[in-house]
Amino acid sequence: MKISRLSMVFIAITLIFGLTGPSASEDINPEFKDLLREGLRTKGSVQLERFLSLDATQKFCSDSNVNINSDEAGQLMSKALQQIQYPADGSYLGDWTEGEKIAQSGKGLRFNDTNDTENGGNCYACHQIRKDELAYGTLGPSLYQYGKLRGYSDEVLRYTWAKIFNPQAFLMCSNMPRYGHNGILTVKQMRNILALLLDPQSPVNE
Ligand code: HEC
Repeated sequence: MKISRLSMVFIAITLIFGLTGPSASEDINPEFKDLLREGLRTKGSVQLERFLSLDATQKFCSDSNVNINSDEAGQLMSKALQQIQYPADGSYLGDWTEGEKIAQSGKGLRFNDTNDTENGGNCYACHQIRKDELAYGTLGPSLYQYGKLRGYSDEVLRYTWAKIFNPQAFLMCSNMPRYGHNGILTVKQMRNILALLLDPQSPVNE
């Protein structure tokens, strides 16, 4: 009995994790919620509440019959696009050396972090970033030569900012975290990440 309860909690974590983000909704089965409350607790910067309530996007993407080409997906995506906050002064590029540290850092939002821990972007867990990198994840496409291949136009800057702010404004149920939308990265960190991808001097664009 104990083992099956525990494994249900693990399944729940697996299902909910990766879909990211807070906000209220009461659609999780109440008994299942009780089970989660019993098996999980808030520790460090991991909030129990995050596992108990899903926002509209998470709810939509958690449906086993999800259709990302449906009208509902289209509505969620256009809402996400409207909610993107671009840098107020129109300057997108910070310092790529700082951006690289953020991209290679998996710190933040873990149970052994505190609320003061500066979040990393963990980009390397899913993307290749530079040519001489030894280890990186391949869930996402390689970002090597990101700017060199696409050019450094205002449109590319704006799209890249928006994509990192909320990937689901462009691809419903993307596996990539919603860095701006969920407040994972600050505006300053976003600028440094943009420089990593779109400063011609960055090693990404060698
Ligand atoms: C959990 C895995 C994951 C993490 C972490 C992640 N990404 Fe992604 N990313 C993806 C996937 C999968 C795609 C392709 C699907 C899509 O477009 O959403 C993608 C797509 C992108 C694209 C669009 C590429 C294009 O050609 O349009 C950019 C830019 C990007 N990621 C940048 C980043 C940056 C910068 C970070 C770190 C701040 C990051 N990603 C972290 C999984 C991830």
